[in-house]
Amino acid sequence: MKLIAPSILSANFLNLENELKQIEKGGGDLIHCDIMDGHFVPNLTFGPVVLKKIGEISNLPLDIHLMVREPEKFIPMFFPLKPKYLTIHLEAVTHLHRLIVSIKEQGIQAGVSINPATPVGHLSEILEFVDLVLVMTVNPGFGGQTFIDSSLRKIKELNRLKNDKKYAFVIEVDGGVTKNNISMISEAGCDIFVAGAAIFGTDIIQETKLLKTLVNKQ
Ligand code: DX5
Ligand code: ZN
Repeated sequence: MKLIAPSILSANFLNLENELKQIEKGGGDLIHCDIMDGHFVPNLTFGPVVLKKIGEISNLPLDIHLMVREPEKFIPMFFPLKPKYLTIHLEAVTHLHRLIVSIKEQGIQAGVSINPATPVGHLSEILEFVDLVLVMTVNPGFGGQTFIDSSLRKIKELNRLKNDKKYAFVIEVDGGVTKNNISMISEAGCDIFVAGAAIFGTDIIQETKLLKTLVNKQ
């Protein structure tokens, strides 16, 4: 089954508990948490203190997307939260393999993410070690941006590599996912769909259900 990971970046933080319950009712699978440091991306969000509280009130696993420079300084803060996935950016790290291994040693599934301008080829030496590849389909930093159409060929290329070499990672797509493009992204080979603006600020239950149905039909 393909999974929906609502991004709480677009949630109403003053009503977060209620909105998290609605995600669950709508069949959301993961809570996508965008951690931003104001350096790797031009925005700031929240950190482990907030995620700990979220973990206590929600039954859904955490999908943590670290948009921070020097992630080696931050990842140990997230280990005690036992997220399902902990993802770091290729562009933000010097010793990628070391960090991926250190995440996996904690029993946490490790992800690597690439920005829109980073070619899939730059991942060739790490693909066999990761559990997830997160393809950014907007420039990271903000919710509500428009999907960059040329990213589709990157998703297809990654999916082809995965099938050819029998890699075990799942493909996640993040940025500008809507009910209008989600089927196309799914056909390109995506397994996990992050969606922020498309879910929050509308009927959360209904939109989550709709996205889930669109990628799991047939
Ligand atoms: C952007 C974040 C995304 C963002 C997606 O930097 O990584 O997770 O919340 O939001 P939408 O779905 O609104 O593009
Ligand atoms: Zn994200």
